[in-house]
Amino acid sequence: MPHPDSTSPDAADVADASLAPPPHAHLWPDSARVDAAGRLLLDGMLASELVQRFSSPLYVYDEATLRGQMRAFRAALAQRWPESVVAYAGKAYLSPALCRLLLEEGLELDAVSAGEVGLAVRAGYPAQRIHLHGNFKPDAELDFALAAGEGGVGRVVVDSLDELERLAALGQARGRPIAIWLRINPDVPTETHTSIQTGHADTKFGLDLASGAVAEAARRAAAAPGLALVGLHAHAGSNIFDSAPVAQVTRILAELAASLRESHGLTISEISPGGGVGVAYTPEQRAIGPDDYAEAIASVLRASCERLRLAPPRLIVEPGRAIVARAGVALYTIGPRKVTPHAIFVAVDGGMGDNPRPALYDARYHAALADRVISPPSETVQVVGRYCESGDVLVRAAALPEARPGETLAIPVSGAYHLPMASQYNLAPRPAVVFTADGQARLVRRRETLDDLTRLDVW
Ligand code: LLP
Repeated sequence: MPHPDSTSPDAADVADASLAPPPHAHLWPDSARVDAAGRLLLDGMLASELVQRFSSPLYVYDEATLRGQMRAFRAALAQRWPESVVAYAGKAYLSPALCRLLLEEGLELDAVSAGEVGLAVRAGYPAQRIHLHGNFKPDAELDFALAAGEGGVGRVVVDSLDELERLAALGQARGRPIAIWLRINPDVPTETHTSIQTGHADTKFGLDLASGAVAEAARRAAAAPGLALVGLHAHAGSNIFDSAPVAQVTRILAELAASLRESHGLTISEISPGGGVGVAYTPEQRAIGPDDYAEAIASVLRASCERLRLAPPRLIVEPGRAIVARAGVALYTIGPRKVTPHAIFVAVDGGMGDNPRPALYDARYHAALADRVISPPSETVQVVGRYCESGDVLVRAAALPEARPGETLAIPVSGAYHLPMASQYNLAPRPAVVFTADGQARLVRRRETLDDLTRLDVW
């Protein structure tokens, strides 16, 4: 028990020497511990008891880890580039509870739809601090975003010449220019799954440099009274373990800013080399941290500004995954265990409906039995879900003690791109979500019910 005078969780830990970090601690939230009986604690609460309380599948986010990652990115960047902004990429995971943390921690928000903008604004997040991305923003969504909150979203990231024309007309009709960035296709290769490479030559994203689309967009933007071209943006790809691509993107954007100054007399005051910082999903992986990432960008930007005689621009980075992934743990209840001549299958009550990443990207995960985290593994199993197809495999080769039905299985690094991509396949309800802080768990999204699953049907 913590001493009654102790105020910080660290002090509580020191007082309770029986708590230890879990094996492979770099995959778990900061608050994760293992007790003397080998049971996983999340912010002081037994993971298996959280499942008893909230049922499963359950997604548990540790607020301290979320805030810690937000602060780490802000500090890493601000130390090296004072005029800098961290704009969290909401596509990785968005909820009213998360929006409140973003606001408290001083992050801006990268949104990609009227839905994301609308949720954030309803949560009290200021529209002006939102940047609207997307390669196709339907008219109704643009109208919504430009009217959202007080004064609409702060920046619109233009992805095509068609969109530029539409925005120029909208800005003119409003009588107030719309602040835009141009999204550039930087033609920078990345070593990540092909589905999440976004800056290679043949991507659908952005304006092409080689064909002259960027120069044409800049020329039209400069001439359009309805537009204020303030920034340049590119995003090389996602889950990247190396800082070279983002450094290269930064250099390309700085060079483009200098060339637009020469060719069109334009002043580019904002530069955004996107997001993409990778995270470790499995014990052997090690990701780059906020400092490596910030250093790679800031050093190239500094050198480029000096070489090109550019006034230092405002720097905006957009990490999504690296802010939320490790803060989230997925908890499942184990069902049937099946031993066949080919494999041992351990089924859980979730699967591709709440985490489609293994099926989509062949993503690898680590798994642990929540109440036997430090017991030595006795077999290698396939952790499969409950959905009706063979591709529904969460972990292809999980080394575990023999799992018993009813036990809780925990999969760490589940905080990014699970819930936003979750489906109602097989009409299985999407999971409940809790946030933990100061030793308490609070429900931030309830589990879906049959009413939710059938609400939109016309009977
Ligand atoms: N900025 C832009 C313009 C983006 O397109 C993305 C991600 C980000 C920032 C954030 O990237 P992050 O820091 O999270 O890597 N569903 C896939 C990931 C798709 C990412 C798309 N764009 C997955 O589960 O891996």
